[in-house]
Amino acid sequence: MRALERLERLYAIGGGSGANRTGYSSEEDEAHAIARAWLEEAGLETHVDHAGNLFGHSATAPGVWTGSHLDSVPQGGKFDGALGVVAAIEAVERADRGTVVAFRDEERGCAGSQAFVARGDLPDAFVELHIEQGPRLANAGAPLGIVTAIVGYVRGEVVVEGRAGHAGTTPMAVRDDALVKAAGLILSLRDEAEAIDEAVLTVGRIEAEPGGVNVIPGRVRFSVDLRAPDEERLAALVALTGIDGSRGVAPTVMSPAVRAALADEFAARGLPVVELTSGAGHDAGVLARAGVPTGMLFVRSLGGGVSHSPDELSSEEDVQLAIDVLASTLLRL
Ligand code: HGY
Ligand code: MN
Ligand code: MN
Repeated sequence: MRALERLERLYAIGGGSGANRTGYSSEEDEAHAIARAWLEEAGLETHVDHAGNLFGHSATAPGVWTGSHLDSVPQGGKFDGALGVVAAIEAVERADRGTVVAFRDEERGCAGSQAFVARGDLPDAFVELHIEQGPRLANAGAPLGIVTAIVGYVRGEVVVEGRAGHAGTTPMAVRDDALVKAAGLILSLRDEAEAIDEAVLTVGRIEAEPGGVNVIPGRVRFSVDLRAPDEERLAALVALTGIDGSRGVAPTVMSPAVRAALADEFAARGLPVVELTSGAGHDAGVLARAGVPTGMLFVRSLGGGVSHSPDELSSEEDVQLAIDVLASTLLRL
């Protein structure tokens, strides 16, 4: 199946374990160059905007856009982002209408789609096909799902101060060890976040300074990624950590019209209409917040729903069905 072969081609870029295509890296550049060739092979007119986002327009009715991102997290999966671009090429070619877009640097904060909407020339509608990155569709026995809303999120850094000292000559009782304090804080943040329904808190990176193995850490910096389905719970998470919540991304609802078009396509195929929130952020959230009627089509994740990992997986059959639904939805919109 061409779509899966193309995913393999993108996955091989950069070598190493998993997908390694950081935003605006030479690996993402290579993925964009390959995708541009596929767009031209499909007979689409291509262009790249000021932020490096890639577009492929069909001659007929280019107003409905579909796509995703080609960058990845370190050691990411084969499907996150890339599936939405590869499927978009198949669907636009099959429907002979619409525009394919690959946004730059989604994983570190949607830089490409943010730069795009800042210019203001927006599509009539946007549909992003994406692997679910969770277990809910598999648990429901459903191959596809329709996203109702994307969680809000805030990312930031917590700094814990202590007092650097000699690892050998400083008695345990008199230490002011920043790393030990940070460890206790992280565990209590985890417990408090667990008490907020559907909220999640992740510490993905931690740095001890000065970083010598024989030096008691004087300062520790750790990242926090906070998410919740509504503003109130997101604010409660931010309050726990004390970080600046002003640069957060608000929870975003999807367009009822686009959701209805997707649901009609599900019904036409006798598919159960499973609707779910997205715990992951997406470029679709950026476009929706810019006022573009936006929807997301999720493809079942296998392997327990693992993502941001080389173990990320969807089946050929589900991918094929998703492309078919996407092509019909472009026609319907
Ligand atoms: O982190 C996220 O939610 C997305 O995968 N960028
Ligand atoms: Mn993604
Ligand atoms: Mn991702």
